[in-house]
Amino acid sequence: MNIAIVGTGYVGLVSGTCFAETGAIVTCVDVDAVKIERLQKGDIPIYEPGLDEMVVKNVKAGRLRFATDLASVLDEQEIVFSAVGTPPDEDGSADLKYVLEVARTIGANINRYMVVVTKSTVPVGTAQKVRAAIQAEIDRRGVDVEFDVASNPEFLKEGNAIKDFMSPDRVVVGVESERARKALTKLYKPFLINNFRVIFMDIPSAEMTKYAANSMLATRISFMNEIANLCERVGADVNMVRAGIGADTRIGRKFLYAGCGYGGSCFPKDVKALIKTSDDNGYSMEVLKAVERVNERQKRILFDKLQAIFGAGDGLRGKTVALWGLAFKPETDDMRESTALVMIDLLTAAGCTVRAYDPVAMDECRRRVGDRVTYCRDMYDALLDADALLLVTEWKEFRLPAWPVVKKAMRRPLVIDGRNIFDAEELAENGFEYHCIGK
Ligand code: UDX
Repeated sequence: MNIAIVGTGYVGLVSGTCFAETGAIVTCVDVDAVKIERLQKGDIPIYEPGLDEMVVKNVKAGRLRFATDLASVLDEQEIVFSAVGTPPDEDGSADLKYVLEVARTIGANINRYMVVVTKSTVPVGTAQKVRAAIQAEIDRRGVDVEFDVASNPEFLKEGNAIKDFMSPDRVVVGVESERARKALTKLYKPFLINNFRVIFMDIPSAEMTKYAANSMLATRISFMNEIANLCERVGADVNMVRAGIGADTRIGRKFLYAGCGYGGSCFPKDVKALIKTSDDNGYSMEVLKAVERVNERQKRILFDKLQAIFGAGDGLRGKTVALWGLAFKPETDDMRESTALVMIDLLTAAGCTVRAYDPVAMDECRRRVGDRVTYCRDMYDALLDADALLLVTEWKEFRLPAWPVVKKAMRRPLVIDGRNIFDAEELAENGFEYHCIGK
């Protein structure tokens, strides 16, 4: 089966590689010639565990190819996925310019039946806009070609993307014809051995499912962050509360971790976009608006805790603060909407020197904030003469530090743990002042 994936960002590259892994002949297309050249050489522009080897293996096997020009490879394809970016507009709505550009290119070059599937996260109604854009080009050419549009939102998590794609909880596919359903059933068949379900539905429901899933998960996190903030005030421990409520199968244990806010490319963007869609449709989603506000407040919480200790106003001026973790979560170099960026802004504005360390996101951080922070050799180097250590991202390597070494390096043995990964008793035994979220 020949398929093309347009857009070699996170979703496009992972999906293309994983489809190739199951035997499909995949062409990944991107207008960025430099990126395509790098990919052809096996140089992967994103950090994702396991992806490098899988790309190289499938390129070697002839199942994975890269191209810059969709028009020239279109004739071979049975299915074309569009996985291009949908960056948020000023007002929070998803910008569809790349999605519609791909549609126009397809319309201008299509010569045989194919299914055009949108994988990018797009607002309800986009598939119809894609259909119209393709049809307009076909009409302009005065030819007669049939095609179907479909929606197949992607639920993979960064850092776990290969596993999520190869053994998904479910695959959601919105179709409008039996022919498209058959083509997509065939493509997803190799995954059925893993005992998962392809859930077919109408296209608007598939488009909505993605936003509803991410918004629900973001809601759980903001809800737990509020419970945590209240726990601190009433003498309860959010970790105990989490265990207590997570044991209820109706609630479940996952995605209940309080911390210093959620980031990434999906939750903030999708929550914003759903709020916008509902406002545009004359309905105000009050819960989601609060989810967003709570998260913005939570991203400042480590700074607020520092200020409570050192005093507001000039209390933090001249202090040195060590940041462990810059990425929005472990196992990625992605810093989009990361709490670390908010912390860097607040700390530098308050007159602090910031010493940062992250196992993979340091280059990305330098690209975003330049030399406003000192990039350190390793996690211990970041602690040199620090008045406080802030744990922002829970990388595995931060979980069991040599506390005596930490204490020796720091000016003041103060640890503020934004992801609740350290053991309060152990820190107390080692002579640290320890603060975390929600107890
Ligand atoms: C998310 C969705 O999980 C995925 O299904 C969708 O396709 C894209 O968006 P991702 O952004 O890669 O994936 O990361 P995820 O692991 O979901 O974490 C998002 C953020 O929530 C991180 O900043 C993480 O630290 C935070 N988080 C997660 C919490 O604060 N608490 C939790 O319990 C879980």
